[in-house]
Amino acid sequence: METKLLYQTFERVEADAIAVVLREDDDAPPELKFATAWLNELRASGEFTGKANELAILHQPAGIRAKRLAVAGGGKRAEFDSAALRKAAGSAVRALKQKGVKRLAWWLNGTNAEAVVEGAILGDFEPDRYKTSSDAKMLEEFCVVAPANGAEIERAVERGRILADSQNFTRHLVNEPANRLTPTLLAEQAGAMAAECGLEIEVLDQDRMRQLGMGSLLGVAQGSAEPPALIVVRYRPASAPKSSDHLGLVGKGVTFDTGGVSIKPADGMEKMKYDMAGGAAVLGAMRAIAHLHPSIPVTALVPAVENMVGSRAQRPGDIVTSLAGKTIEVLNTDAEGRLILVDAITYARRLGCTHLVDAATLTGAIVVALGNINIGAFSNNDTLLGRVMAAAKDEGEKMWHMPLDDDYKELLKSSFADLANIGGRAGGAISAAWFLREFAEDTPWVHLDIAGTAWLDDAKPYMAKGPSGICVRTFTKLALGW
Ligand code: BES
Ligand code: ZN
Ligand code: ZN
Repeated sequence: METKLLYQTFERVEADAIAVVLREDDDAPPELKFATAWLNELRASGEFTGKANELAILHQPAGIRAKRLAVAGGGKRAEFDSAALRKAAGSAVRALKQKGVKRLAWWLNGTNAEAVVEGAILGDFEPDRYKTSSDAKMLEEFCVVAPANGAEIERAVERGRILADSQNFTRHLVNEPANRLTPTLLAEQAGAMAAECGLEIEVLDQDRMRQLGMGSLLGVAQGSAEPPALIVVRYRPASAPKSSDHLGLVGKGVTFDTGGVSIKPADGMEKMKYDMAGGAAVLGAMRAIAHLHPSIPVTALVPAVENMVGSRAQRPGDIVTSLAGKTIEVLNTDAEGRLILVDAITYARRLGCTHLVDAATLTGAIVVALGNINIGAFSNNDTLLGRVMAAAKDEGEKMWHMPLDDDYKELLKSSFADLANIGGRAGGAISAAWFLREFAEDTPWVHLDIAGTAWLDDAKPYMAKGPSGICVRTFTKLALGW
């Protein structure tokens, strides 16, 4: 789907459909005067009230050139924000393309072009690349229309395009099955993205990790025939930054999580291809950052491994030595995310990152706590947490601050090593976060547990079933607002 920007009057737009948002308590804009009777009838009959995700279509409208007029519900005026607009655009795109619309025009009517373009591009994404005959009908062109030129609209369209394409890049990676996205192949995809966007990339291989002493990460990797990779992507601003701040984004990159010897049940295990969603989010954010040039240096680190049950796999009770020198008793091989993340966190600190944010599909416990709605946010620093939460709010990615009191630290006591890698069922997402915190030490750090939010089990009106691409926009916003 191509996205375009057109300056044109409403009635002269040529398209298969021209869409406009109407909220519950909106008067129709003057451009829709010709359709007043139709709109009144829709409202009187309750067929269209303006609620979110509603769509009404008028064929062959008199007096305009577009073949259809589509009004999309925007919800309540008081609750209308860019998240609602993004969803309205996404819902309309998904419904209209299914009806065979190929060229869709969108009358901006003074609304935020960035959110509209994002909604359209995100709504257009289908995870169907391995269907050799797909019945999904695709949109060919999405054209944002405004009556008069404006540099601001142009910038907004461009930003929307960059953000949504980057989020779809992440969704594509997350959707790739584990046989087609091993740690090596993930590193290759990161390399291709970096080359295309002019980012620096370095991939640490197993030998290098051994030299460095990343025993915690390597312990997870040793059960798989697929070698691990630590992907490091760097963005440096063109002009010298004003402060010495350096943002590190760390993402869990488990390309498949069988659980290892502490093996997972068969039922639903296929979903564990999305256990690299944090890593993919970090890479998608770097893509957007490369195009939008924030003024802070950003380094992304993705420890990529496959958690398998080969004959060399680590066993419950094994004790590994992390890069930081702390010893870890691996009581459960399925708590592997934290084991790979801590070596990446230590490495990020050594590379000079002054602020760290990680994203990880870390625990089933966060799904129990927050369902599929909110990201769980944990932190050792209120200022950084405030920045991350503000960025998430701006981008419509729901996030909930979880506790991390010292009392919970007790849960990770090991009889034989410095730390155990699990803290029991109670407060499972919190003990997992505490494990990471032990390695962030005094570096301001935020941990985002996205196990519940990185994958949609059912399609939304505005988004396909499957990978959500959560965190890409929040991370990009965080860097841009620094
Ligand atoms: N990748 C899983 C967490 C997960 C669960 C992600 C559900 C997405 C959906 C993680 O590696 C894991 O297995 N965690 C264990 C930890 C436990 C052994 C302490 C869990 O949550 O059960
Ligand atoms: Zn696991
Ligand atoms: Zn996992």
